[in-house]
Amino acid sequence: MMTKDILILAIETSCDETAAAVVKNGREVLSNIISSQIELHKLYGGVVPEIASRKHIEKINQVIEEALAEAKVTLHDVDAIGVTYGPGLVGALLVGVAEAKAISFASKKPLVGVHHIEGHVSANYIENKDLEPPFLCLIVSGGHTHLVLVKEYGNYEIIGRTRDDAAGEAFDKVARAIGLGYPGGPKIDQLSKEGNKKAIVFPRARIEDAPYDFSFSGLKSAVLNYINSCEMKNEEYNRADIAASFQEAVIDVLVTRTIEAAKNYGMNKVAIAGGVAANSSLREEMRSACQKNGLDFYHPSPIFCTDNAAMIGVAAYYDFLKGSRATLELNAIPNLKIGER
Ligand code: KG4
Ligand code: ZN
Repeated sequence: MMTKDILILAIETSCDETAAAVVKNGREVLSNIISSQIELHKLYGGVVPEIASRKHIEKINQVIEEALAEAKVTLHDVDAIGVTYGPGLVGALLVGVAEAKAISFASKKPLVGVHHIEGHVSANYIENKDLEPPFLCLIVSGGHTHLVLVKEYGNYEIIGRTRDDAAGEAFDKVARAIGLGYPGGPKIDQLSKEGNKKAIVFPRARIEDAPYDFSFSGLKSAVLNYINSCEMKNEEYNRADIAASFQEAVIDVLVTRTIEAAKNYGMNKVAIAGGVAANSSLREEMRSACQKNGLDFYHPSPIFCTDNAAMIGVAAYYDFLKGSRATLELNAIPNLKIGER
């Protein structure tokens, strides 16, 4: 029997990338168009919400047209429209949600609302065709740091989260302190290669009674204090050593906690997701820790780690199969919780 392919047109505008993609049967990316605003926001050292919303409005139609053209399909061929409706910047989210509702209404195609973080997790399905739940996923992005049990498609349990800064936020703040500019993650990743990760011992925070929670604000302060005290004493400091030692402190905590959680929850598959999952040292250290502990390790290519619409299309596909349909009442929810509908 021939089964019909299911095509999802996905839209993502939760932060500073205007993105659209076409995904076939949940695993095959036919197109993945990303219009990044990074150059614009660099001027201000971070994402300016008002500018992000306006830029999304300017770009969204063109990005969707490109996604359809590159996939060599028309709206007519599409089975459903998937869109990120939270969490994220409310004005930015609204552009994607309004656009998706308009397309859904005009084309009479069903609408599926997607959770941005569930999208990040789902990025792992694109290149790992054999990956299926259950597995443990570490999600590390600019706004989130979560350890999540993926029990089945669309069924998540959060077992750990950050109490303060997200991992990516810490990268961005430390990068700014050592004069690297925005976004800091990739720059610290690069500069660390020239530094000694053992040069400075920065703190690794543990939260009492919450073995899988994270805290990065103390680490960020320790880096700032280190720089200040060098400046007070008129001592030179080595930026590459700071970058490498800071990065090592973050990675050490992320890897240790992930491996402990995998063991204690009896998970033999570990995945990573989100912008910080593009970090080359995190990938290496997580891979070797998984290997040592007999765990299978999965990660998306860097392009599917940072924000994109392909991952939203994958999550939308599994939600669609489960019967999830949004109405034209769908709204942007800036603080949407994972697993919430
Ligand atoms: O997932 P993402 O694109 O957006 C959010 O949903 O937040 O993540 C962006 C974050 C930024 O903080 C950025 O500095 C960080 O991911 N990032 C990295 C790397 N590439 C991006 N952090 C460390 N190393 C990288 N190579
Ligand atoms: Zn993201």
